[in-house]
Amino acid sequence: MSSGTSKRSEKKKKNKKPTPAKGWRTAETADRHELYELSVQNVDAEVDLVQQFFADLGEGACQRVREDFCGTGQFSAAWAASEENRSAIGIDLDQEVLEWGRERLANRLNEEAQSRVTLLEGDVLEVGGDNVDAVLATNFSYYLFKTRSELKAYFEAARKHLRPGGIFIMDAYGGSESFEEQEEERDLDGFTYVWDQNHYNPITGDVINHIHFRFPDGTELNKAFTYEWRLWTLPELQELLIEAGFSTSQVYWEGTIEEGEDEGEGDGEFKQTRVGEACQGWIAYLVAQP
Ligand SMILES: C[S@@+](CC[C@H](N)C(=O)[O-])C[C@H]1O[C@@H](n2cnc3c(N)ncnc32)[C@H](O)[C@@H]1O
Repeated sequence: MSSGTSKRSEKKKKNKKPTPAKGWRTAETADRHELYELSVQNVDAEVDLVQQFFADLGEGACQRVREDFCGTGQFSAAWAASEENRSAIGIDLDQEVLEWGRERLANRLNEEAQSRVTLLEGDVLEVGGDNVDAVLATNFSYYLFKTRSELKAYFEAARKHLRPGGIFIMDAYGGSESFEEQEEERDLDGFTYVWDQNHYNPITGDVINHIHFRFPDGTELNKAFTYEWRLWTLPELQELLIEAGFSTSQVYWEGTIEEGEDEGEGDGEFKQTRVGEACQGWIAYLVAQP
């Protein structure tokens, strides 16, 4: 595909929601974590992707995963729900988001499955534990490490948590529009999700992105979430993974819908390749092996 195509896998959920039940959410009644999950996460698709990546590159069975930067732990819960022999440990610094996630585990999972999920407060650089089959760092959370040495230290830590034959999975985003200061809106279930690429500094690569939620009554949760990141590129990330002791790193690139009303958008299918496309916006996965 040529330069300028618009594969717009918006950050990040792509499955369409039913027609909004407009009017019932307002800034006052809305829960920002619930809206985040509805807007950004697609954990069932991510469970399938982890299975796919592991089947391609891992060795043995993928049962125990570690979800770094787990936030509400929605992926960890979905992983435990997906099969009875699966367990997850989620790690996040933020006690408030973890508490929100823990309270919802009872709604998401039966008692037995709940016992296979642990949501731990701590720094991903410091929390140890038994080795796992896969470590995940998704929704670009590791972009908060802004220097090569910080990011390399995180990659080294992630590698040490893997058992032999395990894999490290990260997502990444980019494309010509990722360097632009702009807002993207998506109408969802009674609210509008706004991805605000508010600031980009071409000298350092630093970006400041906000998520806002707007409601039919005109109210707004302005800056519901703010991310101060470095916009890393795939070659930088692959080089750093090798420097951090991984033996290989593969890029999984998303296919494109070829026709219909969503023509040019990502199709949710990721394949290993060494040749991407100069799209306006893309999301890819990196999978590294120790
Ligand atoms: C972009 S959110 C991602 C949430 C979730 N993983 C997802 O996929 O949507 C980033 C999360 O990383 C957490 N975080 C930031 N620095 C961290 C660190 N050093 N160790 C653990 N968690 C951290 C934040 O508290 C926040 O919940």
